[in-house]
Amino acid sequence: MEPAISYRLIKTEKHTGARLGEITTPHGTFKTPMFMPVGTNASVKGISPEQLDEMGSQIILANTYHLWLQPGSGLVKEAGGLHRFMNWKKGILTDSGGFQVWSLAKDRQISEEGVHFRNPVNGDKLFLSPEKAIHIENDLGPDIMMSLDECPPFFESYDYIKKSVERTSRWAERGLEAHRNPATQGIFGIVQGAGYEDLRRQSATDLVSMDFPGYSIGGLSVGESKAEMNHVLEFTTPMLPTDKPRYLMGVGSPDALIDGVIRGIDMFDCVLPTRIARKGTCMTSHGRLVVKNAAYEHDFNPIDDQCQCYTCRNYSRAYIRHLFKADEAFGRTLTSYHNLYFLNHLMAEVRQAIMDDNLPDFRERVFESYG
Ligand code: GUN
Ligand code: ZN
Repeated sequence: MEPAISYRLIKTEKHTGARLGEITTPHGTFKTPMFMPVGTNASVKGISPEQLDEMGSQIILANTYHLWLQPGSGLVKEAGGLHRFMNWKKGILTDSGGFQVWSLAKDRQISEEGVHFRNPVNGDKLFLSPEKAIHIENDLGPDIMMSLDECPPFFESYDYIKKSVERTSRWAERGLEAHRNPATQGIFGIVQGAGYEDLRRQSATDLVSMDFPGYSIGGLSVGESKAEMNHVLEFTTPMLPTDKPRYLMGVGSPDALIDGVIRGIDMFDCVLPTRIARKGTCMTSHGRLVVKNAAYEHDFNPIDDQCQCYTCRNYSRAYIRHLFKADEAFGRTLTSYHNLYFLNHLMAEVRQAIMDDNLPDFRERVFESYG
């Protein structure tokens, strides 16, 4: 049987660990390195699938945790799976709920079996196990699923992280065993281990021996410094096979994307571009711009004079500022569109820089102008 997910390494950049590649899924072949917009509830907030496609998005992310609680994975299955339910024809990846249970649930208790917690909305008692997470993801039907992991705080004790990593490995094994649709869906294992090199190695070694079609790196961007994150990536990516994609979870600032790519990361996701857009903050080639500011009241320039997106080709800072002041939903759509386009375009430029073997120069230029 052909695996559902495969990766082709096209080339490695001459001066760094950056990789140009392709990931093939049942919904198409996509270029890496890539950024994946987040559509938690089977919708990238304020943006239609047609717009996602037009701005160059390839794979989007949805959340097992949220869709399990509402509308329920049975309903999504009844609709024919997430792709049909939300009318998105390219790639979909789901997170397993490991991280969301940590950040959102109440009265959480972790055991070998799984996680017991309460629904923060209505107080219902819930239980998520590695088997259950995979079965929910099988019902949702994304191209790529995450196995259930524990995402502990970065600065936990060595003893705690060691026990946690070992449990996450056992959970990964159980998830693989429970997987019902290996021909159409691939599972990634999630490497944990906080800042401890030997525990990252233990985690990576365990997961690599299970032969996943791709590997995620979790437990980063959770309060540690960027230097610490880069340090962890520097020793972790070489522990992973070169013929499988590597996905750094929850990272989406332009500088961190480039520094991740340089250390061999192929895929990223983050709520950052859409979350800040809804508050009126835009990522631009000159750094962040808060379009709600009074300074832009009479400014009829686009958000970013270097940007060719739908928003920047058609609308001014003054208009978008007005929409925010009047609390119009279209303003949030315009800024969200721009920020996602900005990151998709940045990754296209990164791919070109890998092709041209000039990624360090490209990094310098972006860091200088983005500030
Ligand atoms: N999203 C960001 N970080 C993580 C992580 O460590 N685990 C999971 N499952 N999702 C994440
Ligand atoms: Zn733009």
